[in-house]
Amino acid sequence: METIKPEILRDYAQKASSFAHSPFSNYPVGAALQTEDGTIFTGCNIESSSYGLTVCAERNAIAAAVVNGHKKFRALAVYSINGATPCGACRQVIWDLCGDIPVYVFDKSGHGDIYRSGELLPNPFDVTKLEKKNNQ
Ligand code: THU
Repeated sequence: METIKPEILRDYAQKASSFAHSPFSNYPVGAALQTEDGTIFTGCNIESSSYGLTVCAERNAIAAAVVNGHKKFRALAVYSINGATPCGACRQVIWDLCGDIPVYVFDKSGHGDIYRSGELLPNPFDVTKLEKKNNQ
């Protein structure tokens, strides 16, 4: 299974953004995540009236994949009107769950920038720090 073309993943992310629940920010975001076996899971941002409970599109896409039994990922696309890169919390979760994968960031014009999750979160905290052998 080849890594999907970024433009295909963008179309899924853009469609997902149309389902965003973002009445407070009016800033819809969509994400599309390709699993190792080629399946695509999507997410949109879901805001809460208790603002801090908002969950971003990226983390909802990852959650959708994980609850369906997927643990290995190939690529992530994020879509917003002006090409938002993932927030800090999402960068941590992308690194934790996906490792070092390509992250495609698209805006309304169709323009895309390509990053890697390792580039978005340099010097990460992660599971390796929690392994006993490193602590003792
Ligand atoms: N948001 C995302 O969904 N992903 C990001 O990477 C950045 C921010 C959402 C959260 C909130 O619903 C809205 O965008 C404004 O912050």
